Amino acid sequence: MYKNHTHCRACGLGKPSIPTLKVSTAAGPDVAAQQLVPVMDLGLQPLANDFADMLDEHAGFAPLKVMLCPRCNLSQLSIVVNPKDLYRHYSYVTSKSETMNLHFHNLMGDIMDESGFGSVVEIGSNDGTLLRKMRMDGFGPVMGIDPAENLCAISTANGVDNICSMFGFDSAQKALDHMGQPHIIIARHVFCHIDDWRNAIKCMEMLADKETAIFIEVPYVMDMLKDGSFDTIYHEHLSYLNVRSMEYALKESKLHLHAIKRYPIHGGAIVMTLRRNDWADSPDESVAWFLSEERSGVEEWRKFSQESEVRIMQLGGLVRNLVSEGKTIVGYGASAKSTVWINACGFTRKEIKYICDNTPQKQYKVSPGTNIPICDDGALTRDLPTHALCWAWNFRDEIIEKEQIFRKHGGKWIFPTPNVEVI
Ligand code: TYD
Repeated sequence: MYKNHTHCRACGLGKPSIPTLKVSTAAGPDVAAQQLVPVMDLGLQPLANDFADMLDEHAGFAPLKVMLCPRCNLSQLSIVVNPKDLYRHYSYVTSKSETMNLHFHNLMGDIMDESGFGSVVEIGSNDGTLLRKMRMDGFGPVMGIDPAENLCAISTANGVDNICSMFGFDSAQKALDHMGQPHIIIARHVFCHIDDWRNAIKCMEMLADKETAIFIEVPYVMDMLKDGSFDTIYHEHLSYLNVRSMEYALKESKLHLHAIKRYPIHGGAIVMTLRRNDWADSPDESVAWFLSEERSGVEEWRKFSQESEVRIMQLGGLVRNLVSEGKTIVGYGASAKSTVWINACGFTRKEIKYICDNTPQKQYKVSPGTNIPICDDGALTRDLPTHALCWAWNFRDEIIEKEQIFRKHGGKWIFPTPNVEVI
C-alpha cells in the first residue's frame, strides 16, 4: 500500500551521494545530519478522501508522520502511499463556493497582470472549473491534465479539453502536440501531491518557452504552522511547502522563482511564479522577502505538534461532554480535514450523528475509518441538531451566512481551527 520515503524530494538530502552537513537538528546542535528529522506523528490514519459505501472495501490505514529536511526545511511525509490506493475513491471536487469564485477571480487578475492573455495548460485541472472561467474571461486555448477519470468526464462535458493522465513526459508531450508551448502553466495544489519533483520540473521545462509564466499554488507551511491547521496533514499531501525548498529544487533547472504572493484561500496559500532563466526581468523582491522571513524549522514544528495534541484533546473532550448532556452533534463539510480530526479524536457515530456535505460524490458514503455517514447539506435545517461541527472552516463566513435557519433555531457552531471554539 505504501513505500518509505527517506530522502528530501527538494534538495536530495538523505541520498547516499549528498555530503554530510553540520546543522542543528532535533537531536541537538551541530549534529551531522544526513537524514530527515521526525517532527510530528499522527499515528495510523485512513486515507482522507477514501469516501466509500459502508460495505465497500476501504483502502485501510497507514502511518501519518512528518519528517523535516534540516537543510531546506521541506516537511514531508515518511511514506508515499501507492497512488492507486490513494485515488481509488477520489472525490475531491473543486468547491463551487463563493470563496473559491473570489479566489479564482483574484488569481486570474494576477495572472493577467503578469503575463496577459494567452494559451493555458492546467496541471491537476480537476473538473475544469478554473479553465472554464479563464476561457470565459478571454484566455485560451485551454487544456487540462488530470488523472481522475470521473473529473475529466465532467470537464469534457463542460467543454474543457483535457488529457486524462498523471502529469509526466507523456501527458506534457500530448499537450505540446495539441497546442504547442503554452503562454501560461498553472498547477494549483498539485505540487504537494507530487513525489518526484525532479521529473515534474523537467516536464514543466519541456512545456515552457521563453515567454511562459508558471503559477504554482500551494498551501503555505507558515500559515499551517501559525494557524495550527494540522488537519491539512494527510496522505495525499506528501509535502508541506516552504519557499526555500522550491528554490533548492529549481537550482539545477532552467527555471527560477520570479515572484511570490500570499492568498487567504484554504487557510493560507502562496502562488509562486516561475520564469525561465533566460527571462529578461529580474526576480521580484517578494522572493527575497519570503526567503528571509520564512521560519519553519524543528522548533516551529515541535511547538505546532504539541499545540495540535492539546486541541485534539480539547475537541474530543468538548464533543463527549456535549453528547453526555444529551446534545446532538453533526459534522458540516466532509473535507479531508474532517477525516484527520475524526480519527485523531476517535469519533464514531456515537458522537457525530452524520456529516452534511454538498458534494454529490461524497453523499451516502461513510467517513473514512469510521461508520459516520455523509448526508446532503439540507439535512442541517431538516434535522436542526443542537451543534454543528464545521470541518470546512476555510469557508467559515460563507457557511455561517448560508445556514442562518440553523442559527435562528438555536443551533451552535463548533469550529476546531484555528482554535476550538463554540459560537
Ligand atoms: P475543502 O476545504 O474544499 O477540501 P479538503 O477536502 O481539501 O479539506 O472541503 C470542504 C468540504 O465542505 C467539501 O466537501 C465541500 C463541503 N462544503 C459544503 O458542504 N458546503 C459549503 O457551503 C461549502 C463551502 C463546502
